[in-house]
Amino acid sequence: MMTQDELKIMVAKEALKYIPQHGVLGVGSGSTVVKFIEQIAENKIKIEAAVSSSIKTTKMLEDIGIKVLDPNEVEPYEVYIDGADEVNDEFDMIKGGGAALTREKILASMAKKFICIVDKSKLVPVLGKFPLPVEVIPMAREQVKRTIRSLWGDPVLRKDCITDNGCEILDVHGLSIVDAKQYESAINQIPGVVTVGLFAHRGADVVLYADEEGVHKRERA
Ligand code: 5RP
Repeated sequence: MMTQDELKIMVAKEALKYIPQHGVLGVGSGSTVVKFIEQIAENKIKIEAAVSSSIKTTKMLEDIGIKVLDPNEVEPYEVYIDGADEVNDEFDMIKGGGAALTREKILASMAKKFICIVDKSKLVPVLGKFPLPVEVIPMAREQVKRTIRSLWGDPVLRKDCITDNGCEILDVHGLSIVDAKQYESAINQIPGVVTVGLFAHRGADVVLYADEEGVHKRERA
């Protein structure tokens, strides 16, 4: 029986094949992405430059000698590689377990292809068992909580967590998300919400997932 860590390493290795030979690579955040960056270093993969979704990822990339650019200096680019907390059959995702959802969504919106790298535990028929992260401006927190509670589920302030953007995270429990695009639009409309961790309007294009048998690829038709 393989551990979750071993599965993450397997999928991270496979993702190396999707790094474009030229141009900018978009890099996400989280423990699977940490393995991916370690694999880049171990295999001495050449990357011209990257855009990064978190301070932590930027540091890791720079530590292995990769130049990290400000997204404002970059045109839409080929490939964004990132993990997810949950992925459904439509390639909608819940992300933000690592609190980097806003920058991740910005980088995903600039990429021609989003490659999601996960172990099999992240594949779900219905999104929502993993509490949905919502990044909020601190002064709006209580009002956002009231609105979410009256309409959808139970928001819980994530303890000791300030995002790279100086904001807070509410984790919304008790959801069963059937129409992810609708949820994404509706929660994004609440004043004070910076980003909801639903990636449905811009979901993944390719999902690479690892299980005991190896790494499998699912691609959007
Ligand atoms: C960070 C994210 C991550 O992609 C997500 O939390 C998955 O992380 P991990 O690879 O550690 O399971 O969205 O904000």
